[in-house]
Amino acid sequence: MGGVIPLQGVGIQYKMKEEILRIIKKERNISGEELGKRLGISRSAVWKHINGLRKMGYVIDSCPRKGYSLVSTPDLLIPEEINQGLKTNRLGKEIIYFKETSSTQEIAKKLALDGKGEGGVIIAESQRSGRGRMGRSWYSPPGYGIYFSLILRPHITPSDAIKIPLVTSIAVASAIREITSLNACIKWPNDIMVNNKKTGGILVESASEMDIINYMIVGIGVNINTPDELIPGELKEIATSLYIESGRRYHRIRLFQEILKELEINYEEFLNNGFNKLRTKWMELSNTIGMRVIINTPGEPPFEGLAQEIDIEGALIVALPDGSIKRVISGDVSLRHMN
Ligand code: BTN
Repeated sequence: MGGVIPLQGVGIQYKMKEEILRIIKKERNISGEELGKRLGISRSAVWKHINGLRKMGYVIDSCPRKGYSLVSTPDLLIPEEINQGLKTNRLGKEIIYFKETSSTQEIAKKLALDGKGEGGVIIAESQRSGRGRMGRSWYSPPGYGIYFSLILRPHITPSDAIKIPLVTSIAVASAIREITSLNACIKWPNDIMVNNKKTGGILVESASEMDIINYMIVGIGVNINTPDELIPGELKEIATSLYIESGRRYHRIRLFQEILKELEINYEEFLNNGFNKLRTKWMELSNTIGMRVIINTPGEPPFEGLAQEIDIEGALIVALPDGSIKRVISGDVSLRHMN
């Protein structure tokens, strides 16, 4: 697994760095001796951890009489930072961080096959071959967005599993609304839109045996602080970022934490009580219901209709021009805006 920053898994070393950060964030100056005492380690062990943190991008001053003080924190999605302020019980309890990787989906899949449990997250600053739905790619430049994959192992049937992307889209749109002033909404099935342009996407891949889900990999990508000049020319008409739409930059970790928190709430609602309430929530957040749409569904020529609702199975119900009703389970829609 090239590119992984050492010490980013669970384990004593990693926890110690997190503890040191917690303390030096609170205390403005603290001596190596005092830090060592509080953590039950030697001064030279403290010094080693401080140097490790510096290598990760933390700027930490050390003055002979005053001790250590934190000057700045790197703008990176590192677990040490994410863990401080993550309000979840089961999702994101283990985070594996890459500066760069091929695709977090790939890594998550390998780890899931190796037995990694529910809630594990693989996150990367950038992806060389980020994947999107329907064979598309997902542009993943470093420093501006978040790209991560979450391992789930729900005890549900494959037919229920098709609702997981919808449940996830509720979490992402709600988190964006919470953190920004933007009116994020969902275009069926799970594109995250702001002002009719896509700012986030969700790709769910799963493996099942007989009627049992083995694992699901929920991949989420959001363009957060991406400037206009970094959106590839061919995507400018259809893609955007939270920064482009609001003129404001957002703390990427804060949004990531909010997405995981919302996802945990909605996922638990789904496992405990089914899709009923979530269906209503999805429709409230959707920009698709009540619109004239063109549907691209695999293996069929595109067709037009009026999107009426999603049913309890998560399928889009479309009224066709001849008056008949069609249930669409997979595909993509484009909205027809009437002037
Ligand atoms: C879409 O086409 O809308 C889905 C895009 C999903 C992108 C995310 S980024 C993190 C994860 N890793 C990938 O390669 N894809 C997903």
